[in-house]
Amino acid sequence: MPARLVYEAILETGISVSLRYEGHMSRRKQIYEGKAKILFEGPEPGTLVQYFKDDATAFNAQKKAVLDGKGVLNNRISEFVMLRLAEIGIPTHFIKRLNMREQLIKKVEIIPLEVIVRNVAAGTMAKRLGIEEGEKLPRSIVEFCLKRDDLGDPLIAEEHIHAFGWATPAELDEIIAMTLRINDYLQGMFAGIGINLIDFKIEFGRLATDTGHVVVLADEISPDSCRLWDRDTNKKLDKDRFRRDLGDVTEAYTEVAQRLGILKETNNKTAPVLSVVSNDD
Ligand SMILES: Nc1ncnc2c1ncn2[C@@H]1O[C@H](COP(=O)(O)OP(=O)(O)OP(=O)(O)O)[C@@H](O)[C@H]1O
Ligand SMILES: [Mg+2]
Repeated sequence: MPARLVYEAILETGISVSLRYEGHMSRRKQIYEGKAKILFEGPEPGTLVQYFKDDATAFNAQKKAVLDGKGVLNNRISEFVMLRLAEIGIPTHFIKRLNMREQLIKKVEIIPLEVIVRNVAAGTMAKRLGIEEGEKLPRSIVEFCLKRDDLGDPLIAEEHIHAFGWATPAELDEIIAMTLRINDYLQGMFAGIGINLIDFKIEFGRLATDTGHVVVLADEISPDSCRLWDRDTNKKLDKDRFRRDLGDVTEAYTEVAQRLGILKETNNKTAPVLSVVSNDD
């Protein structure tokens, strides 16, 4: 099958233009297609390739759109965050970025929990508890939802996790300890670039070892999974721009990437950097 040349240009944001042969992708065995990412079998046993799509969904996939360039930005931002967290000793599934949209990861058995950390009331918590969005919480709060799209990812208590055995008490202790460290680090990291980390969602998985398994951070950390507000203006720089029809979604993600130093700001928006990438590089 002739390879199809895919031309991605995000000229206005100054992101590199990439030329990619999608034909390479068809050689890989697809393991799973989710709402925002596709998982392919990796080159070595125990590895996967995580492909970041431009698809955006909200409200349990009732609202859908394609946002040009979102996948490229989330791949880069998640890489950056996972590498910083690894530096402070958080074990993660990330191995390396392969190209604009793909990263090599360690295959894990996902623990069926969405772990949410909230520093400031927003979204469903503000609604559920009748707290005004933007009110600082007395302390950071860790919440758990069961990863069950068919049930709308319901909020659960630690008791449910223990009773139904979704994670062992030791795993849950580790998850909570890691989650609080991640929150501490990310709050500081974002504060350093003028952004308040309002809340975020993470997932953990069991990584097989010779003697059993260890719990590692998996999935992604990106503006799709965090609430990020500009410190001075409270401008939303995250997926709420899509959920609430605020517009300029990829522009906001680009701003996060630029402030993190991942993307170079460019004054000459009509002359982006040209790069050719393939799934083999
Ligand atoms: N290292 C990993 N090993 C195995 N599975 C992983 C790993 N990291 C993430 N996943 C899983 O890959 C999928 C990523 O796809 P995506 O985020 O698009 O899914 P989704 O449609 O949001 O569904 P979900 O509700 O399961 O997250 C998720 O199910 C996630 O739990
Ligand atoms: Mg997901």
